[in-house]
Amino acid sequence: MEIKNATFEQSNSDYKKCPMHDKHEYAFIGRSNVGKSSLINMLTNNSKLAKTSSAPGKTQLINHFLINNSWYLVDLPGYGYAKVSKSQREKFGKLIKGYIANREQLVVLFVLIDCRHEPQKIDLEFMEWLGVNEIPFSIIFTKADKLSSSQLKKSVLNYKKKMLEQWEEMPSFFVSSASAKLGKEDILNYIGSLQESI
Ligand code: GTP
Ligand code: MG
Repeated sequence: MEIKNATFEQSNSDYKKCPMHDKHEYAFIGRSNVGKSSLINMLTNNSKLAKTSSAPGKTQLINHFLINNSWYLVDLPGYGYAKVSKSQREKFGKLIKGYIANREQLVVLFVLIDCRHEPQKIDLEFMEWLGVNEIPFSIIFTKADKLSSSQLKKSVLNYKKKMLEQWEEMPSFFVSSASAKLGKEDILNYIGSLQESI
């Protein structure tokens, strides 16, 4: 699968206001600062498409990007950013979960996990919520450039072990680095195969 063109379409504060269409959507979620927007830029080969920042809490809306005029990548706000107020966090939580639980066009949600971190309760609980709500998801381990290949292997194995305490099998997963442009082909081929099968 190759991305030939990617254009920003809309930002929305409510899933009910998202564009009306019958195209498929692939969305990215995870803790603030995990690299969701950077990954979208890496996949589309456009460093200016989605807004990124070294400060967490950059993406605050549901952002739709039309790809090859035929499907969408969706950038979502992150969860778990400790420095915003409780009411703001609840607002983001509602926005994210509203989109995920109700958006019929959503084919697969990519849950991004920073490969450097031990499994975090907030991510494990979020994936549990996805399971309860029967939302198909895949994991993407981000920022792989920050670890050596042996550290990376160990970290992924450790995550798998933790997941298998809760899940019958490990969901499909990918390793990526936006800065080293790693994982692009695998992720796009995966989306390509889903596009063909549905
Ligand atoms: P929010 O919108 O705040 O939820 O964050 P986000 O998940 O969209 O993260 P974003 O893409 O804005 O990136 C956060 C920071 O991590 C930025 O400083 C990026 O440059 C950096 N970053 C993202 N991906 C990578 C990566 O693969 N490697 C490295 N080294 N840094 C990365
Ligand atoms: Mg973002």
